[in-house]
Amino acid sequence: MTDLIAAKRDGRELSTEQIQFMINNFTSGSIPDYQMASMCMAILFRGMNDREILDLTLAMERSGDILDLSGIKGVKADKHSTGGVGDKTTLVLCPMIAALGVKFAKMSGRGLGHTGGTIDKLESFPGFTTAISEEQFISNVNRIGIAIAGQTGNLVPADKKMYALRDVTGTVPSVPLIVSSIMSKKLAAGADVIVLDVKCGEGSFMKTKADAEKLASQLVRVGKLAGKKVTAVITDMDEPLGYAVGNALEVKEAIAALNGAECGELMNLCLTLGSYILIDAGMTDKEEEARSMLRRTVEDGSALKKLVELVEAQGGDPAAVYDTSRLPDAPVKMDVRSSSKGYVKHIAAENVGLVSMHLGGGRITKDSEIDLSVGVVLNKKVGDHVDEGEVLGTVHATNEEAAAKAADELRACYFLTERKGRKEKFVKAVVR
Ligand code: URA
Repeated sequence: MTDLIAAKRDGRELSTEQIQFMINNFTSGSIPDYQMASMCMAILFRGMNDREILDLTLAMERSGDILDLSGIKGVKADKHSTGGVGDKTTLVLCPMIAALGVKFAKMSGRGLGHTGGTIDKLESFPGFTTAISEEQFISNVNRIGIAIAGQTGNLVPADKKMYALRDVTGTVPSVPLIVSSIMSKKLAAGADVIVLDVKCGEGSFMKTKADAEKLASQLVRVGKLAGKKVTAVITDMDEPLGYAVGNALEVKEAIAALNGAECGELMNLCLTLGSYILIDAGMTDKEEEARSMLRRTVEDGSALKKLVELVEAQGGDPAAVYDTSRLPDAPVKMDVRSSSKGYVKHIAAENVGLVSMHLGGGRITKDSEIDLSVGVVLNKKVGDHVDEGEVLGTVHATNEEAAAKAADELRACYFLTERKGRKEKFVKAVVR
């Protein structure tokens, strides 16, 4: 390992065998954390070529269990987001896709820090569990076309160990390391068609469009080399997605979207990601037609019905889809009023995520308990006009004191200007 670290430090290529040796022995514990941390830093500075990134991804994928989805008939789709604020896309997109007959077999994670996780959001349905066996997962996908499970204990253990190290050694923002981390998990989860939502902007890892494009094209290249159909869509994360941030609040917004409500860019994102899934699944070759097919699942209620089936199949209360008062509800709701007037220029997405986290809606450590009812609902988005004293958003909290503190924090997330500016394009690029 010392020789490999020195080779990468000096900008040399690592062979397939060297990469396998490194991942196998790090996973088993024979290579210590300090050597792997040093290697991650060498990779961050020196980079890796396509062949090395693919070898690293495959070695990581094979470091633990690999899901065998061959028992599922038809095309299997999967979706991944690089992590955002207010991102409830999976809750809307998966039922729409499944309603059209493409199978959605999804492994999801929990939230950490200022970003939310689909598993926590789904647990807002009383009784819902994502801890289902591989047999039940496969049987649910075959029966109703959709299942969402938590990552099993031994799926890509190399990534679990490496990610924890990268988190504390300043080596998260490295394209080869992010690509191998994401794609090893996607490959181990077994889907044929993969769409990736690469967030770009203040609330994400990739702050600039150039960096997001670099990441997106590497993700697509590695996925294709591994034999998958992959599309990466680069989307804006300079303000939260939609209006709600917080677990049950986001579920309510997702249900509203499936009922046809206007929810900012949320539906546009679902139609964009969904259209590439339908094209790669062979349902159509035209983007506009794919978008119409997806829209129809909302208009005819079939996507909402699919959500009901998903909730029921995984032990949740299906009546909560039609009556959202059955979902967790915070006791204190406090409106946050603007202290000036103007147009909303920017909403600090990461800080809005932190407001929700401070209210108890997010984890500070991996094992923190969270409150599913709390969070914020924005009333104003970028480009909107605000009068002095008008409501910017509403804080949902467990008590008055927490609500007052969060209200001040949320007000500070808003930046107003006198003149209405140009709104950034939401979908910045598509890489296929
Ligand atoms: N998401 C991941 O799963 N891994 C990374 O390295 C970054 C984002």
